[in-house]
Amino acid sequence: MARPHIEFVHAQCVGWTLRADGAEEKVLNADPLTDEATLIVRYPPGYSAPANTAGEGAEEFFVLNGTVEIDGEARHPHAYGFLPQGSGLGQRNTAHGAVLLVFRHAAGDADAMAGTADAIAIHTPAMPWDVSTYDPKLIHLRLARKVLRLGPNNSGRTFLLTGMAHGVPPEGTTLPAEMHDHAEEMFMLQGAMWAPEGRMGAGAYFYRPPGILHGPHVSEYGFLQIMRSPGANAIVTHWSDIHKPVPVGVPYRPVLPDGTPATWMCEIPSETAW
Ligand SMILES: [Fe+2]
Repeated sequence: MARPHIEFVHAQCVGWTLRADGAEEKVLNADPLTDEATLIVRYPPGYSAPANTAGEGAEEFFVLNGTVEIDGEARHPHAYGFLPQGSGLGQRNTAHGAVLLVFRHAAGDADAMAGTADAIAIHTPAMPWDVSTYDPKLIHLRLARKVLRLGPNNSGRTFLLTGMAHGVPPEGTTLPAEMHDHAEEMFMLQGAMWAPEGRMGAGAYFYRPPGILHGPHVSEYGFLQIMRSPGANAIVTHWSDIHKPVPVGVPYRPVLPDGTPATWMCEIPSETAW
């Protein structure tokens, strides 16, 4: 069984679990048969840990808050990294604490091993945005992208995606839904996007297995998200013939795996209190 469909929860609704090493984590989605998972990890001030062991799966991460020094290099908010399995990398310490979004690859995944997969360390705010490659059916979102990683053997891409404010087509417009042959995964860093399942604000997370019809998506005030496409480095989209109404204002109706705690369905405020 592969990773279950979850679309979507806000990570703020998921409780922390204290680990033996003093860090806390919240696992958002996991493969029941391997240790592949997506989780948020919070390192307390003064935390330190040795390098990942040869038996631990590759670690892909994005710094959400704070600063953590990994292998001697300070990683600030929005730093991205990939630590291949068996690379001997991952020694870390943080003086004041840090929160990381972690995509843990399955131990033994041949495409994530040192020698096949490259170690990556990027300060993503310094990268230029790529605005060149968008599907005309998504023109209303005015998208831009930063590709952070292209996995070996077409094993998947990780990228930042942003859309401008006022990405809602005129009233009465209908839009097609979409489907891919690969999985899609998303964590919302800033802003919000409307989907038929509700309003994905900052902290929203989904993991969508291949072959699931989704969208349309629109954004009133813009967004920044980190996305992955496990199983493909190039996104191929199959568009539906059926067009759907723009989903602004729809109620929160997530798709959740069996056994998901009811508390994960909490709703977060959509408006800033001034
Ligand atoms: Fe998609």
